[in-house]
Amino acid sequence: MSSKLSYSEALESVYVGHLKHDKGYVEISTSLFVEKIDVDMPTLPPIGFYSFKGEKIELLKPPDQPYSPLILSLHETVWVKEGDLDSLRKFAESVILKPTTSNTLPPQKRMDILRRSAMSVVEDLFESPTQEKIEKSVNVVRSFVYVMMKDPKAYLLLIKLSSHDPYTLQHSVGTAVNAIILARKLGITQDKELLDVGLAGLLHDIGKVRIRKEIINKPGPLTESEWQEMRQHSLEGFEIVKDNPQISARTKRAILEHHEDNIGTGYPSGLKADQIDIFSKIVSICDIFNALTTDRTYAKGRSAFEAFQFMRDKLMHKVDDHIFTQLVMIYGGHVEELNQ
Ligand SMILES: [Fe+2]
Ligand SMILES: [Fe+2]
Repeated sequence: MSSKLSYSEALESVYVGHLKHDKGYVEISTSLFVEKIDVDMPTLPPIGFYSFKGEKIELLKPPDQPYSPLILSLHETVWVKEGDLDSLRKFAESVILKPTTSNTLPPQKRMDILRRSAMSVVEDLFESPTQEKIEKSVNVVRSFVYVMMKDPKAYLLLIKLSSHDPYTLQHSVGTAVNAIILARKLGITQDKELLDVGLAGLLHDIGKVRIRKEIINKPGPLTESEWQEMRQHSLEGFEIVKDNPQISARTKRAILEHHEDNIGTGYPSGLKADQIDIFSKIVSICDIFNALTTDRTYAKGRSAFEAFQFMRDKLMHKVDDHIFTQLVMIYGGHVEELNQ
């Protein structure tokens, strides 16, 4: 590591797992351990610290000894055993998720870490969706659900987050967050179900990894045959997740159905409204809404209000009336105002 990480950067790196591995050890920034600790903070797990002397590994602190401020101040990073990484990740997660009385991590910072973690998890995922990376995204969505269940106002922070990150990443995370918020508004309150719908939001476009890059990144409009290829992404996404035991059947179904519409003109199956699962409908409307409101290289995103007007005028065959009304209300509006 080149320069010393801040406390929240250190938390984030452990939480997301962007760490250097070598010979069964992992490098951890000591910033993770030195922050002032109050009574509400989760306890640090008892682990050993090591350092590399050339090729040789040396013990700095045995697992059962307390964290010595001296050791920590002398080293920017220490190495820990790979086997201890899981307990450190759990520690980082509980700091990120559990508000404490201290101000070590103010709510906005907490949300930033969660959002950035989600972004980087999705970025990895879009490189190649392996089992391990999918597991990480389950964790991140679980964290979103947890934060929103514990703190009803948290979603206000989340929906305010704007970003200039690459489109698909921002789009996936934005769709996941909105899908969880919308599902709650629709009366879905079970953690497990919120996790399923959030994960569907995060993974809905994962099939794009199997579509040729020239088509994904083409600046101009697509030709008919290019569109045909692009439309394969929901089926391809389903193929990627279909045998994954970590992912529920409804999540898989929502990935498959997110481009179906009410009148049977969607793809891949041309289903009608009553054949489409509500999770798929939630992901679909959040997908559309997020696409309309996100900045692109060639155009600025619409405001939420403009996006709702556009949906009302042009896209009502694609969205469910009741779900649409609830989404408008989340953003503080009323459907009647849209026609003025
Ligand atoms: Fe899609
Ligand atoms: Fe999408």
